Amino acid sequence: MNEADLKQKLDRSIVLVGMMGSGKSSIGRRLGRRLGMQFVDADQEIETAAGCAIPDIFRLYGEAAFRAGERKVIDRLLGEPPRILATGGGAFMEEETRAQIKSRSISVWLRANLDILLERVSRRDDRPLLQQGDPEAILKRLIEERYPTYEQADIIVDSGDGPHELVVEAIVERLCKQVENIQGSQEIEASR
Ligand code: S3P
Repeated sequence: MNEADLKQKLDRSIVLVGMMGSGKSSIGRRLGRRLGMQFVDADQEIETAAGCAIPDIFRLYGEAAFRAGERKVIDRLLGEPPRILATGGGAFMEEETRAQIKSRSISVWLRANLDILLERVSRRDDRPLLQQGDPEAILKRLIEERYPTYEQADIIVDSGDGPHELVVEAIVERLCKQVENIQGSQEIEASR
């Protein structure tokens, strides 16, 4: 399947998952432009819904409340017309949220190594999980905890320190194959 067919056939959202600093928002925005699809950042939608910034949600209500809000917002967004959706790093770790993403979208894990993540997260200080101690040690622990689960994404693409356009290119290539496979299995299903 080529890119023009992909644009026509894509009937579900593309959900970007991966660690803080893996480039979900910047790559997601570019991917949206490339495929002519709207880009939405789940974290921003959560802030809008809560009328409160993420660090404040964590501080005032705790992580469990944040995760509940995150689940609701992602559920709502997945029910809307297809788009590119960037999710916060912990979203795909939540069983129910992951099940929704797996069944209603094509998930893409932007895999990045510790050095790249560290360099990127150092540019912002609004991530509550990294305020709880040494960011390097926290990221290392989260990598160990999360990477085996992120592996369940439909597509895995490495997000290195090269141009984002290369990552976008790799995603588009993999999406063409993925959508072709989905179409193939739908045709088999229909012929039964
Ligand atoms: C989190 C990642 C953040 C945000 C929240 C929790 C996580 O999003 O959802 O601070 O658990 O990894 P980004 O991955 O966009 O930084």
